[in-house]
Amino acid sequence: MRAPLICREIINHQRYPIDLADDPRRQTAVEQVRAELATDGCAVIRDFFSEAGLAALVDEAEARKPQAYYSPSKYNNVYLNDGNPDLPPDHPLNVRMPRNNGFVTSDLFGEETSARRLYYWEPLKLFLADCLGKDELYIYEDPVSNMIVNVGKPGQEFNWHFDTNEFTITMLLQPASSGGIFEYIPGLRSADDEHYADVRRVLGGDRARVRQLELDAGDLQFFLGRYSLHRVTQNTGDSDRLVLIMSFTDAPGMIGSKERVMNLYGKMTEEHERRQVFTDGLAD
Ligand SMILES: [Fe+2]
Repeated sequence: MRAPLICREIINHQRYPIDLADDPRRQTAVEQVRAELATDGCAVIRDFFSEAGLAALVDEAEARKPQAYYSPSKYNNVYLNDGNPDLPPDHPLNVRMPRNNGFVTSDLFGEETSARRLYYWEPLKLFLADCLGKDELYIYEDPVSNMIVNVGKPGQEFNWHFDTNEFTITMLLQPASSGGIFEYIPGLRSADDEHYADVRRVLGGDRARVRQLELDAGDLQFFLGRYSLHRVTQNTGDSDRLVLIMSFTDAPGMIGSKERVMNLYGKMTEEHERRQVFTDGLAD
């Protein structure tokens, strides 16, 4: 059996020595991400993993893939909530689109896994905070969804939606051989305005503001998904698309709502029953 990699061996340390606080290569990466986020709400660090690191992460995801949760042929609005019957059927709250990909949840990754050890690696968290221009980041404490693998099988898609979190950190482990393209519209809504008319236009097929992102295996992506509508197009290839998603928050102690966790991941814990849940007034 292969010896487990230490965290700096999982990443492409030669190119991104993120644990060396004063290294100019680290600073260059931070500045690049900040610039891209400022203009686009989206940033990519290419080839973030070492070859061995990527292989280990793919192996872990593949081994757990049979346990991925696929919600039974769901049709969701972009807020992943129940909508509003008092509004017209073409209101964004009532437009439902298919979403049929799966998730390998956090609880399936033990402490020995490379994915989990990397998630809890302090230098990674400090680096990501720097990239996002935050004083401090905290581990998202949701025991079901804080570090997950998204599985998109051939034929599957993850339709237009907003995220609960302000930002998301994703790592593409395996792209689709065809399709499975990440599409987004930066800053379509804001913290105090849903911009329903703009959302409605996109759902009606208007592509004027839609951007596409080319991603390869090993790319680390930052995305401001709370305000940017986004989707992954249908996987039209013959292999699974695998994405590792690590979630961090601005404040400690945050978890998801039980409704959302049940909807997306098919399970919840006593924590979800007990804890006060974060909300900022948006439709979710
Ligand atoms: Fe998302």
